[in-house]
Amino acid sequence: MKNISQPLLEEYQLGDLKLKNRVVMASLTRARAANPGLVPTAVMAEYYAQRASAGLILSEGTWVNPQSIGFINVPGIYTQEQVEGWKSVTKAVHDNGGLIFSQLGHIGAGAHPDLQNGELPVAPSAVNIQSQSFTPEGFKETVTPREMTVAEIHKTVQDYKKAAQNAKDAGFDGIEIHAIAGMLIPQFLSTAANQRTDEYGGSIENRSRIIFEILDAVAEVWESGRVAIKFSPVMLSSVGIVKPDEETIPLFKYILNKLDHYNLAFVHIVGPSEDLSGTPVEELQENYFAHFRNNYRGRILANLGFSKESANVILKEGNADLVSFGEPFIANPDLVERFKYNLPLSESDRNTYYSGEDNGYITYPKAVYSESYK
Ligand SMILES: Cc1cc2nc3c(=O)[nH]c(=O)nc-3n(C[C@H](O)[C@H](O)[C@H](O)COP(=O)(O)O)c2cc1C
Repeated sequence: MKNISQPLLEEYQLGDLKLKNRVVMASLTRARAANPGLVPTAVMAEYYAQRASAGLILSEGTWVNPQSIGFINVPGIYTQEQVEGWKSVTKAVHDNGGLIFSQLGHIGAGAHPDLQNGELPVAPSAVNIQSQSFTPEGFKETVTPREMTVAEIHKTVQDYKKAAQNAKDAGFDGIEIHAIAGMLIPQFLSTAANQRTDEYGGSIENRSRIIFEILDAVAEVWESGRVAIKFSPVMLSSVGIVKPDEETIPLFKYILNKLDHYNLAFVHIVGPSEDLSGTPVEELQENYFAHFRNNYRGRILANLGFSKESANVILKEGNADLVSFGEPFIANPDLVERFKYNLPLSESDRNTYYSGEDNGYITYPKAVYSESYK
């Protein structure tokens, strides 16, 4: 069997965790926790266990409290019942030799009264982010949220800490703070969505304050090497008014500089999905990940649109330490083996991304090895 040497398939020491390879499964919301308590199910445990040959799995985004809910049938990690459900997921992954971090998120202004018992969503400011919420009746336009009080921000930070503790109790190997466009944290970072005049608004330092408060809070539960954060600095079109602007580059320089002192497991960075020419972040277009490499001393997990080939290239070049794959894991539970044996990848069915019960969730088979793939 041909197994061309690939850095992607090398073992990797992530602090005290030994990853079997440098292939990370990125978080994928699949909306299969279709029960009133938003409790992870046995089918979810099977789904994750099927993908345990990844060096590390990042769970789907999970809610840190009821106000953070902004999508139907997505599990939470704020009740004891949910913790019990997650225990079966982490056990199934560990039994199959894998590692799994919990991704902790809050959708802020992306929520909808239909998901909040008729209450308005909470956000940094009362500004409609002009996006969409996935409600029980399908996608609906976002509404103008209610501005969080400072006390509510402090409480939310504590909810992240509690969720981090719950993740530990549930047997996760670490946590990733979900801060990609669409979520509460980037709404704080955004000059358009955050119009506060207190210590959480205005300057770059103030707008990013919540990140460090969350990281300081979860550090009371997890050692820093088991904590990660995921950003999408250049997401252009998918999340209404939360877009890169003139302050994005200095903002991320400031954040990364400060993160240098946190010794995190990694910073997970989503790349550009569109041409950045003519945008305020145009200068990031060329050698995108090198910009982050030059501004951050810790580990970088690179994401977006990677193939086996491009992932091996970025690892060889040294502009990332690990590479994550999202969509390819949907139809290829054995993605690592397919990379290893140079097997073709299966296409996923978008109709079953967020619905369809078992179908399109645990039904994708492993590849059948054929002599012709040698
Ligand atoms: C169905 C689906 C659900 C996703 N859910 C999440 C999520 O819960 N949290 C998150 O950080 N990213 C989520 N993403 C983004 C992926 O983690 C990843 O960043 C993106 O798919 C790009 O990687 P890829 O090109 O390898 O697919 C999701 C993507 C897809 C396709």
